[in-house]
Amino acid sequence: MAMQRQDCLDVSRAETFPLNGGTAPGVIARTLTVELKTGGQHLVLEVPAGWHCPRGCNAASLDLYVLEGQVQIDDQSFATGAYTYIPAGMAYGPVVSATGAKVLVFTDRPYVFEASAETRAGTNLDRYVPHTDTWKRPWVDPMKDIVKKSTWVDPRTGKEARPPGVLTKALRKDDGTKEVVALTVLSPGFVDPGTEHHPHNECLYLIAGDCYIGLTYDHKREDFKENLVLHKDFYIGRPPGIRHGPVCTQNGALFLIYLSDYYTGIYSDVDDWETRVGNYFASERYR
Ligand SMILES: [Fe+2]
Repeated sequence: MAMQRQDCLDVSRAETFPLNGGTAPGVIARTLTVELKTGGQHLVLEVPAGWHCPRGCNAASLDLYVLEGQVQIDDQSFATGAYTYIPAGMAYGPVVSATGAKVLVFTDRPYVFEASAETRAGTNLDRYVPHTDTWKRPWVDPMKDIVKKSTWVDPRTGKEARPPGVLTKALRKDDGTKEVVALTVLSPGFVDPGTEHHPHNECLYLIAGDCYIGLTYDHKREDFKENLVLHKDFYIGRPPGIRHGPVCTQNGALFLIYLSDYYTGIYSDVDDWETRVGNYFASERYR
């Protein structure tokens, strides 16, 4: 099951559509990518001030992360940086936004809301992740958090690792589906000199900062891109097998990421990585 590929999407230019069905009108949805078999969607929802939606259920499971503004779900306030996961069929709400909000949403099938007071029969409530204030979560070493396997070897220890300067906060690690949703931060000046690719989907929303990616290509090199630069509110959707790197950042980069399995990274060297990274550090404006 593969995501439609998006190498460097400026979300402000993404296609919009009105989110309707049983949802109260007024929300503008932007499509980041779709999962080609399940119809799962990665969306940004722009919720207008004063929006009100009745209690209901969604046919899809929803990862919700508030990028800006505030929404109220039941009696719980979700401000910038708040996260929850609502399994398909679970009743939630009413949902109200006094100020308006921008919400990043990952679904596992098409988003279809239906007003309902009751959770649907057979809903697996064990998967529910209640309101999470992600600011309060500790940053941890990704090797101890979301990594299943990495072929990168730390030259100092000779052990499997990741290039230093990355920390993660897993928000959802689903033992059933194996999906991972996590915040990931790259430190200012971080460099990953090689390319990596994954046997799973890897999708990243850049919440803040900048990120340079020297090469992006499929294994047949049919779609080959060089020197992509991402800024705040850019998005990447990668199906399995897309090579990407070298990677670096001047100001640092804070991403919300979605993996369709625990992280497996397969690393390859890039001969001219120093030139590529050096050119980015020299060309982009720092501070
Ligand atoms: Fe990756």
